[in-house]
Amino acid sequence: MPQEVGDARRYAPATGRNRGPIGDLLLPLLPACGLVLEVASGSGEHVVHFAKAAPHLVWQPSDASPEARASIAAWIALEGLGNVRAPLALDASRDDWPIAAADAMMCVNMIHISPWGATEGLMRGAARLLPPGGVLFVYGPFRREGVVTAPSNEAFDAELRRQDPRWGLRYLEAVEACAGTNGLKLETVAELPANNLALVFRKAAAV
Ligand SMILES: C[S@@+](CC[C@H](N)C(=O)[O-])C[C@H]1O[C@@H](n2cnc3c(N)ncnc32)[C@H](O)[C@@H]1O
Repeated sequence: MPQEVGDARRYAPATGRNRGPIGDLLLPLLPACGLVLEVASGSGEHVVHFAKAAPHLVWQPSDASPEARASIAAWIALEGLGNVRAPLALDASRDDWPIAAADAMMCVNMIHISPWGATEGLMRGAARLLPPGGVLFVYGPFRREGVVTAPSNEAFDAELRRQDPRWGLRYLEAVEACAGTNGLKLETVAELPANNLALVFRKAAAV
């Protein structure tokens, strides 16, 4: 392995803890064949894990950050996976995504660590790219109307807002409404460990 490949790899310890619960929900939802687009792949550890778990699918990682894309590329090279494409420079908040279609999409832990415009762009992108009936899988910490937010999530929210006032935990209801305006229906809300939620949105079937 060339040294520079290993040097670019990043490690996100949470991916080792959450990939099991995420995979349990995500993998059965995926189509029998086709391409899965991951928005905000970060280190790339998730995409290589899920690509190994579902080798019949083509996996397309992406991230807005060049450092993240270098890490993703390094993980792909290290794992020697033939079913993962090179990472795309994709800013969810923009409408000029460098990909025109995906059979399914996933986005883990981006919505609270980005301005709200990234969530709006994610939903617009899912509406553009997914086929009728296609799934967008989202994971992360959220607030819910009428539900007391866990103290650990309140502290996390305060820390995020200190880093960037545009960041912070979003209300599930606001994310659902944003999805709805783009023709995506919230089909499943699953409570996962460490006060995180998995959300399954489905694009309306063609009529
Ligand atoms: C907390 S990390 C999560 C990464 C990975 N999904 C995971 O679970 O480990 C958030 C990622 O979102 C990316 N990100 C933030 N804003 C974005 C945007 N507008 N479009 C695409 N990616 C974005 C960051 O570059 C970062 O890699």
